[in-house]
Amino acid sequence: MALVNENYLKLPGSYLFSEIARRVNKFKKDNPDADIIRLGIGDVTRPLPPAVVEAMKKAVEEMGRQETFRGYGPEQGYEFLIEKIIENDFRPRGVELAIDEVFVSDGAKNDTANFQELFGIGNILAVSDPVYPVYVDSNVMAGRTGPVNAKGQFEKIVYLPCTEENGMKPPLPRTRVDMIYLCFPNNPTGMTLSKEELKKWVDYARENRSVILFDAAYEAYIQEEGVPHSIFEVEGAREVAVEFRSFSKTAGFTGTRCAYTIVPREVMVYDSTGKAHSLNSLWLRRQTTKFNGVSYPVQAGAAAVFSEEGKKQVKEMINYYMENARIIREGLEKAGYKVFGGVNAPYIWLKTPGNMGSWDFFDKLMKDANVVGTPGAGFGANGEGYFRLTAFGTRENTERAVERIRTRM
Ligand code: MLT
Repeated sequence: MALVNENYLKLPGSYLFSEIARRVNKFKKDNPDADIIRLGIGDVTRPLPPAVVEAMKKAVEEMGRQETFRGYGPEQGYEFLIEKIIENDFRPRGVELAIDEVFVSDGAKNDTANFQELFGIGNILAVSDPVYPVYVDSNVMAGRTGPVNAKGQFEKIVYLPCTEENGMKPPLPRTRVDMIYLCFPNNPTGMTLSKEELKKWVDYARENRSVILFDAAYEAYIQEEGVPHSIFEVEGAREVAVEFRSFSKTAGFTGTRCAYTIVPREVMVYDSTGKAHSLNSLWLRRQTTKFNGVSYPVQAGAAAVFSEEGKKQVKEMINYYMENARIIREGLEKAGYKVFGGVNAPYIWLKTPGNMGSWDFFDKLMKDANVVGTPGAGFGANGEGYFRLTAFGTRENTERAVERIRTRM
């Protein structure tokens, strides 16, 4: 008799975005004529930048010719891409990285979910609440979180409430934690931390020998000067932080798949005798065993993001989405909603009117306005009473959605 991994039985019935898709599909089946606008899952709608498409086509041609064909690539990623990442995404911000500290992958979701494998099962983890569900669910699957309580929270996770009172910024844990998940610009609240605020986390991690798992998938959306794009802009972060980046939201790669993770050589985890082990070596060991790298045409496409035309085209794409963010944020404010985010991030976090439950608001919005968003409660107990809209729609749909919310809700 094959036994189940009982940790899986502690998970919510379905992954948040699968549950939303299920509800939308049911609504569509019952209301086939409804003209639904989807601002739920953070999936991009603009096509790939032309510079990326050209580079991918060329790479595919190369794969079809004997002289230029390539088989397995390096598991860590091609140096032509890694060099461009370091040169464009880090060096201009005063961050120096070695080639072997960058690991190219097929997604930040996978990397943030997989990285916890390198940590002992007894580690205590801290997450913001609300939080991107992958950090929690992947640790539940691994058996690190203990049983779930009546609030739907796991007993061995330290939840850091992000509320209106603290400006949606997670407070430092009051007890010692070993693994800290931070995501800035934040999914789902769209808020950012200043360098000084981020430094408090780096200091905490250095004092407690904890590791910060920093998800920077939305850094390209930062508009304001002075907001850090990388945790490595903070002094001392190389000793305690790992950073996840992605081409998905930056350059429209959600369906193309390319991301990368920075693991500085100095970040350590300890065995039961107190001996230090480098996370960089462990992640390399993990990736070389379980991953065979991202396809050559996709990496060639990702490298084109850093060409002169690529940079221009990506900037236009980000401006397009951020104009959507402005339209949603200002439109909702005018309609009397209290909103957060949408200034340095493609997410707008709104307070549901009249303390309505966030799944109730989801149902009402779908039924009355035919607009789909994401209920805050899906991101954690402190997300209850909030709702997330994304700026990743088309301009036309974004404008129509705001108008419908204004007139039908
Ligand atoms: C979201 O909607 O939160 C995103 O799609 C998350 C992701 O990129 O997996």
